[in-house]
Amino acid sequence: MSHNTIALNKEKQPLDHLESLWLFGYGSLIYKADFPYLQRHPAVIQGWQRRFWQGSHDHRGTPEAPGRVATLIEVPGARCAGMAYEVTPDVFEHLDHREKNGYLRFFTEFAWLDKPQTVEGVVYVAGPDNEAYLGPASEAEIAEHIARSRGPSGPNSEYLLKLAESLRELGEHDAHVFAIEAELKKLLT
Ligand code: SIN
Repeated sequence: MSHNTIALNKEKQPLDHLESLWLFGYGSLIYKADFPYLQRHPAVIQGWQRRFWQGSHDHRGTPEAPGRVATLIEVPGARCAGMAYEVTPDVFEHLDHREKNGYLRFFTEFAWLDKPQTVEGVVYVAGPDNEAYLGPASEAEIAEHIARSRGPSGPNSEYLLKLAESLRELGEHDAHVFAIEAELKKLLT
């Protein structure tokens, strides 16, 4: 599968018939909401785990030296907290462009973090069959990779550090993200 998913997402999942819909963000979409939204709410998705296993050619790295960013991996029993946004379908012009480096949209169910209410919505997942996928590495290796990477959106370290900070603000402990953060802080000082 090509790593540019703009056309695939448009073709496989037309959204224009909807008045509004929910989007679940678990990576940069938590802390960088550079799009208009009607409302937002901290949320959690079940059966998925956040992992820094996706390469970034266009934001936190380059095609020659990709950075490492978050994707979701299906793991029975796992959970992943993030931020849900209610948006109008036209916002996906921007979102599909922003998430074009391997991310496909899926409809799934997620719940509010603070109350037992579920909604259906869209999540962007970069699966193992996309060309930018990097796959597993130890948290120390991921931190080293992040420490040396940068792209048009800035240093890769900023992506990781801002994500860790926003998870803390949500009251969430993500062992994978926090372990990479600890290794990264050692490398940056
Ligand atoms: C997301 O945040 O939901 C997708 C991955 C990213 O843009 O960092």
